[in-house]
Amino acid sequence: MSAFRDLREAVFFVTGNLHKFNEACQVFRAFGISTIMVKRINVVETQADDLEEIAERSVREAVRKCNLPVFVEDAGLFIEALSGFPGPYSSYVFRTIGNKAILRLMQGLRNRKAFFKSAIAYSAPEMRRAIKFIGRINGEIIGEERGNHGFGFDPIFRPNFSSKSFAEMALDEKNQHSHRAVTLRKFAEWYSAIPQTQKS
Ligand code: IMP
Repeated sequence: MSAFRDLREAVFFVTGNLHKFNEACQVFRAFGISTIMVKRINVVETQADDLEEIAERSVREAVRKCNLPVFVEDAGLFIEALSGFPGPYSSYVFRTIGNKAILRLMQGLRNRKAFFKSAIAYSAPEMRRAIKFIGRINGEIIGEERGNHGFGFDPIFRPNFSSKSFAEMALDEKNQHSHRAVTLRKFAEWYSAIPQTQKS
């Protein structure tokens, strides 16, 4: 109880990813919002070419299954020299070939530009359409894996604002500018502004 006493409100985040959850907790805490993880509802991540569409479909399914106001977040890494690959297929590519294979694909390429994009979709049982937010961060694919923090492609991505890879940053440093932090803050600003009666 006491941990939540000073927090005005809460938001349900459908994710099984503890790293994403921790990033969200830190961003929302600054807005006085507590984050509750909704994890075991087996939302199938639908495949589409567009992250916002994937997030929108996932949130619709999540609301149908748990009958709560919830949000989902979907992210992808887009590499310029590979025509945006892996993009919306990032999850599959990370699981199947991983960072080392991406580095091999990039071997000898001078154009290292890449960006992360994040899409959030929020919906509730009485809402007909999801509300969506997006965020992006530009950077580059470095030559080798660096760092032990974070997850996924963090060891091979260096954002333009820093000389470190995401995996060399502590949570609060990544959260200052990351694609997800940008999207989470947009969402938190919107969520803080809507009347309490519309959130349940
Ligand atoms: P999803 O949003 O969980 O579908 O993420 C797609 C893929 O991108 C997964 O393999 C994640 O590990 C990876 N990914 C998503 N967000 C990040 C991030 O912030 N840093 C590094 N990899 C990420």
